[in-house]
Amino acid sequence: MTIGRGRLIVTMVLLLVAAMARGADVARGKTLFFEHGCYSCHGYGGQTGARDLVGTGSPLVTDESTFITFLRLRANEAPLLPSTRMPNFPVEAVSDAQARDIFAFINTLRLDTPEIDQEPAMKAILDSAGREYRK
Ligand code: HEC
Repeated sequence: MTIGRGRLIVTMVLLLVAAMARGADVARGKTLFFEHGCYSCHGYGGQTGARDLVGTGSPLVTDESTFITFLRLRANEAPLLPSTRMPNFPVEAVSDAQARDIFAFINTLRLDTPEIDQEPAMKAILDSAGREYRK
């Protein structure tokens, strides 16, 4: 029995649609976050370094298309004198699908800064700062 041409075309279209609709993958995003050195400036959990990626509510990290535009912006606009140190990530370096994976990973990160009263060293510093100064 041969596969009818119509059925073959339908199968191919379905495969194509499935490939295009591939959802963002958090595990892949995590790998890319490390492979592209994002962690070196933003920390393992996105909470240390150049700029926090967690808990800021910034549209650069909460809106997927804004995030991708941000990654591309300097690559596409290429200012003569870049004013910041965030590198360019043009589409040749990070594809749109990969950028979506990274975005998905970043959005799984949660702020885990402890409360001050659970940090003995910080609490001691604040307590001593509140004490009256004596010679
Ligand atoms: C060499 C250091 C460096 C590396 C590597 C780096 N960044 Fe950044 N990133 C920065 C700095 C500095 C800023 C602050 C703003 C700016 O430069 O525009 C920033 C800002 C951001 C912001 C905007 C945060 C906000 O809300 O203001 C996002 C999102 C971001 N980086 C994601 C990434 C991702 C994803 C990668 C890896 C693909 C990456 N960064 C790699 C230094 C870096």
